[in-house]
Amino acid sequence: MKKQKKNLILPLLLTGLLFGGCSSHAAQSSAEDNTDLIVVGFSQVGAESDWRNANTRSMQEALTAENGYRLILEDAQQKQEKQITAIRNFINQGVDYIVLAPTRETGWDTVLTEAKKAGIPVIIVDRMIETDDPDLFTCWVGSDFRSEGDKAVQWLEEHQDGRKLRIAHLQGSIGSSAQIGRTSGLDAGIAAHDDWTLVFRESGDFTQAKGQEMTEKLLARETDFNVLYSENDNMTYGAIEALQSAHLEPGKDVTILSFDASSKALHLILDGKINYDVECNPLHGPRVRKIIEQLESGETPLKYTYVEEVSFESSNLLESVIEGRGY
Ligand code: AHR
Repeated sequence: MKKQKKNLILPLLLTGLLFGGCSSHAAQSSAEDNTDLIVVGFSQVGAESDWRNANTRSMQEALTAENGYRLILEDAQQKQEKQITAIRNFINQGVDYIVLAPTRETGWDTVLTEAKKAGIPVIIVDRMIETDDPDLFTCWVGSDFRSEGDKAVQWLEEHQDGRKLRIAHLQGSIGSSAQIGRTSGLDAGIAAHDDWTLVFRESGDFTQAKGQEMTEKLLARETDFNVLYSENDNMTYGAIEALQSAHLEPGKDVTILSFDASSKALHLILDGKINYDVECNPLHGPRVRKIIEQLESGETPLKYTYVEEVSFESSNLLESVIEGRGY
C-alpha cells in the first residue's frame, strides 16, 4: 500500500510545478503526500446525533499525524449516494484504507467491488452491510443492535408492574443496522406478550428535531400510550420536550427506554426522565487504528468484532460513572 502511494509523489510534484500559478492546493497536497503517513478515507454517516459526533471525534483523535495517519473525513449528511461518491473519490485519490460507517445495510456491492479491484482494504465500522460477498470488506467492528433491543425488551418485562403496555415506537433511520436490530428486538417482545400493544411507529431519523416532531404527531392523535421505545438518545431528548409541553411527566406518566447512553441521557436517568438506556459504544477510533496496525504488520484481524456494551437505570448509575465515560 505504502509503495503504491510513494510512486504518486513524483507526478504530483510535477503537477505542482507545471500549474505553479494556481497550485497552492496542489503544492499543499504534494507536501502532505510526501510523507510516510498512512492515508485513511473515512466516510461518516453524518452529524445526526451526539453519538455520531463522539464517534467522529474518536476517529479524529486516534488517526492523527502524530500517530502516523492522514485522515480524510467525508460527512455524508445521512445520504448513501454521498457515501458512494466519497468512496469513489477515495479510490481515485489512492488512499491506503477506506473506513465506512454505512448509512444503511444494502446497496454497497458495486462501489465496494471497485475498492476491491483497486486493492484498497475496506474496514466497516458501527453498522453492518448486507452482501453476499464478505470478501468485499476486510473486517467489521461495531455493535450488536439486536442484542441492544433484546436488553430493552427484557428490562420492560421485568418492569411491567402488572400494566397492559401500550407502546409508542420512534425508529431510527430506516434500513440502518441500528434501526433494524433495535426494531426486531421490540417486535419479538411484542409478539411474545399478549398484553403489549404497539400503538404508534414512526421514524425520527435519529435526530432530536424529528424525535420531537414525531412525538408531537403521536400526542396530536390522542392515542393512549404508557411506554416510549426510542431508538436513540437524541430522538428521546426531542420526545421529552414534546411530552413536557403536553404536561406529561417523562419517566412517570410514560416509561422511557432509549439507546446510546450518552452523558446527557445518563443525567436524565438521574433526573428520573429516562427509565432505561442501553449503551451503544461510539469509541471506534482506537479499534480502527489497531486493525490498521495489524494489517500493516501483516497480521489478519478478526473479521467481526462486537464491542461490549452495558445498560443503565437509576439503580446502577452514579455521577462518577458518567464523568469517566468520555461521551
Ligand atoms: O449506528 C449507531 C446509531 O447511529 C446510534 O444509536 C445513533 O445515535 C446514531 O445516529
